[in-house]
Amino acid sequence: MDWNEFAKWGARISDWARGYHGTLRDRSVRAQVAPGDILSQLPMTAPETGGDMESVFEDFERIVMPGITHWQHPRFFAYFPANATPPSMLADYLSTVIAPQCMLWQTSPAATEMETRMLQWLRGSLGLADHFEGVIQDSASTATLAAVLTMREKALGWQGNEQGLSGLDTLRIYCSKEVHTSVDRAIWVSGIGQNNLQRIPTHGPLRAMQPEALEQAVQQDIANGLKPAGIVACVGGTGTGGCDDVSAVCDIAQKYGLYVHVDAAWAGAAMICPEFRHLWEGVDKADSVVFNPHKWLGMQFDCSAHFVKNPDDLVRTLAIRPEYLKTHGKDGIINYSEWSVPLGRRFRALKIWFVLRIYGVEGLQKMIRDHVAWSEELHDVIAAAPGYEIVTEPVLSLFTFRYAPDGVEDLDDLNQRLVDAVNDDGRIYITQTRVNDALVVRFQAGQVDATREDVMLAFDVIQEVAGTLT
Ligand SMILES: Cc1ncc(COP(=O)(O)O)c(C=O)c1O
Repeated sequence: MDWNEFAKWGARISDWARGYHGTLRDRSVRAQVAPGDILSQLPMTAPETGGDMESVFEDFERIVMPGITHWQHPRFFAYFPANATPPSMLADYLSTVIAPQCMLWQTSPAATEMETRMLQWLRGSLGLADHFEGVIQDSASTATLAAVLTMREKALGWQGNEQGLSGLDTLRIYCSKEVHTSVDRAIWVSGIGQNNLQRIPTHGPLRAMQPEALEQAVQQDIANGLKPAGIVACVGGTGTGGCDDVSAVCDIAQKYGLYVHVDAAWAGAAMICPEFRHLWEGVDKADSVVFNPHKWLGMQFDCSAHFVKNPDDLVRTLAIRPEYLKTHGKDGIINYSEWSVPLGRRFRALKIWFVLRIYGVEGLQKMIRDHVAWSEELHDVIAAAPGYEIVTEPVLSLFTFRYAPDGVEDLDDLNQRLVDAVNDDGRIYITQTRVNDALVVRFQAGQVDATREDVMLAFDVIQEVAGTLT
């Protein structure tokens, strides 16, 4: 493909993008295909000879598009959002076109210095203290892994990487059952082991770790000859938005010399609004914090902001400096690959810059405030509707409820059938979760293009579909 052809197709795809986004409401949110439908249309082997873009694009529309679940659909209420805005797409397009590798300062000075400044912008926008320094990780899972590895190395006196874990102290990490499974994965990958992830019971409307239970667990472990290493606190847990009392957790951690990582992958974005910051009160006492601008700030995947109080600990855990990665003769530079597990890194800071410059902090605050307000309004409608019960109250824009008409014994089965039937209908997309073992419907609003009408339509659809279930 030559560059004239590229420019022609670039313009055509931009037009296609406008049409795609303009017609999202007419599409089913969740793909309506069966397993294997796409695979069966793809030839078993790669073409021997090259072809033309026209036929590639035709096949893209014919084969690929029916198999897409539309994450940018204004009525996507499942999981958490992974929202994207036009300036973010343009920034990623530019980054794709330049295609730099941003592992070291010298392999892309602009990307490195932009990353430094953008993490400072985000830090200030979220009201985090100036002592945090930031890095962009590909995902919150990677940030949490980096944090758990740092906990491990600190607790082992920096011996783990060198010696392996055998023969060293048995480490213990603490969290509630509200945390995302990325914490479990980090525990596996770090070699600490699932049995050493201690779940602390929760209490209260925000399902926070009980501080007394946390402290008792730490003391018990010490008495048993185990080595407490750190705590993963959650702010906006995945299932129901549970939030730990970060301040209390940090105070206990400080008493026992433990590292605290705060996973605010989803809820962190909302801290751009000062009125929501009570949810992570005390966060400045933590050692590290992760939140995903790629979830709710329109800075599309992948873009995970990882703030650390002491970058030296992270770098001491992860940096490897063979000769070919050294930069000689330059002072005061940052090589961000030393702050993360992968070596190669995309130019992700560009989309933060574009989005913040186009919308400003105020534009993003308005989006999040709207989502929270509409979600609360929808919650009130469902709370008042006969046959429905709210299970967990809204945390920001996330709440759960249950369809519980009189006389039905197996409510888990009914609610799962409701979720499936609603998603087969296609006008909205929702998911289920479990609360105290009961299967419940989970709702969150967070799409950039969502309107109040989109959010309120959700319950019309749910009621209509519920009426068809037997
Ligand atoms: C609370 C929380 N933490 C971590 C993650 C993992 O995020 P990522 O996909 O960026 O690894 C999620 C994903 O939804 C989440 O909800």
